[in-house]
Amino acid sequence: MGLKDWSKEEITEVLDTAAAMKDILGRDVKKVPALRGRSVATLFYEPSTRTRASFELAAKYMSADTVSLTASASSIAKGESLLDTIWTIEAMGVDAVVLRHPVPGSSLQVALHTRMHVVNAGDGAHEHPTQALLDMYTVREKLGKVEGLTLAIVGDIAHSRVARSNIWAWQKMGAKVRVVGPPTLIPVDIDQTGVQVCWDLEAGLRSADVIMGLRIQLERQARGFFPSLAEYTSFYGLTAETIQSLNPSALILHPGPVNRGVEITDEVLASPNAAINEQVTNGVAVRMALLYLLLGGGKGDGFAS
Ligand code: CP
Repeated sequence: MGLKDWSKEEITEVLDTAAAMKDILGRDVKKVPALRGRSVATLFYEPSTRTRASFELAAKYMSADTVSLTASASSIAKGESLLDTIWTIEAMGVDAVVLRHPVPGSSLQVALHTRMHVVNAGDGAHEHPTQALLDMYTVREKLGKVEGLTLAIVGDIAHSRVARSNIWAWQKMGAKVRVVGPPTLIPVDIDQTGVQVCWDLEAGLRSADVIMGLRIQLERQARGFFPSLAEYTSFYGLTAETIQSLNPSALILHPGPVNRGVEITDEVLASPNAAINEQVTNGVAVRMALLYLLLGGGKGDGFAS
């Protein structure tokens, strides 16, 4: 239920399939019959814009039927449990459920108790596998490869499922990963995953091929991990000046949503090296690929309109 358990070959298969899906997104009529007769439910216990909308669009572009459930607007708000909710969706004949839940391991737990395919759309601070897949897809599209590159992930590593999924996946693909941020936001034993730890922003950014800014996740921080947002920004904020002086050619990524002016400035977001909108577009292609591989059967079948 996370990229920690995926092989390089499995990751590559999704990225290659996503390239075919990207072609579909470029058409006037973005509709193919690949998943006609299949059904996909999104079940989100935490807020989302990108992940939920892109999974829904991905399913619809391939002609699957979709249903969308959120915790606040379903019987979850009346106290229905996660598994009872899952079994209710299953009883309606749904083939795959895309789950976002605040508890690490929740997707795996659910998968053990349902016949539906379960896709992890973020489980607490554990993993966000489809985000890392779309990040790698974007880099492959922009730079031609992932292998041999150095990725610097800057910010709130401790609370970031995006960081964790990228750490596992990039290293599997033969890339180097640095995590950059204040010691309070970097888990003490993270070097055991093979990453390089940098508490100093300049050292972290220098010679990196890709810089990924992360949102400061105040909603997951039970206590203060730095004196103030202003101080965090002064030490670790990604500004055009810093990037120009240290590493002007690096590709800039951010999973979104962005705290503009905190971890990254408007100027960096608008710079030609920033690929934030491409990440969002590629998220649809990657999620189409994943749903297709789970529900659609053979390679190359059903892509034509
Ligand atoms: N990157 C990401 O997961 O964004 P959402 O929370 O908007 O889905």
